[in-house]
Amino acid sequence: MKTKKDFPHPHIQLSTLERATVNDAVEISKMQCNSYKRDYIKPKFWKKYIEQEGTFTFVSRQCKEGPIIAVMRCSVYPEHFLINNLLIHKDFKRLGLGTFFIELVKENCRKYTKSIMCNLREHNLEAQLFLKSNDFLFTGQRKNFYKNPEEDQYEFYFQFTES
Ligand SMILES: CC(C)(COP(=O)(O)OP(=O)(O)OC[C@H]1O[C@@H](n2cnc3c(N)ncnc32)[C@H](O)[C@@H]1OP(=O)(O)O)[C@@H](O)C(=O)NCCC(=O)NCCS
Repeated sequence: MKTKKDFPHPHIQLSTLERATVNDAVEISKMQCNSYKRDYIKPKFWKKYIEQEGTFTFVSRQCKEGPIIAVMRCSVYPEHFLINNLLIHKDFKRLGLGTFFIELVKENCRKYTKSIMCNLREHNLEAQLFLKSNDFLFTGQRKNFYKNPEEDQYEFYFQFTES
């Protein structure tokens, strides 16, 4: 049975957390479609993102040759770290995997940046609740930012405190 446990996460062997390659694009796209249809990105665009400079895409497999269960795409800016996409395989949601990734980002970025940002569709309530539970704050809204379907964008923000 799948259960929540402390880190390291029971569904991620850290050796399977790796940079995505263009060969992963089709699987990521399919997994995204099953996880959150509204922001489905075609494989050819995932290929472009994976190769894009300044953007990093990580995938995590259940085991070395197993299916991709988590994807994170992020970009680094001088003032903040942007999470462009965080996707958890539909069969592995609500097991703490998303939180595991956010904790990894927090742990590794604290030294280099002041904040983490993540933008969402207005309709994406599960992700809004998820970010709230990870101490992100709602900081702004862009009217009709998204197309197909047209929707507002909500901006969420996590500020590192001085330590
Ligand atoms: C949003 C997403 C990344 C969350 O990942 P996850 O691994 O399921 O999240 P976690 O298990 O770490 O959840 C942590 C907490 O967030 C909140 N949460 C997460 N999903 C929720 C949901 N569907 N409804 C209500 N609360 C939710 C809960 O408080 C949860 O704690 P709990 O399970 O103890 O109640 C995942 O649902 C997903 O891939 N969604 C589709 C893609 C997407 O919208 N990405 C947005 C980028 S942030």
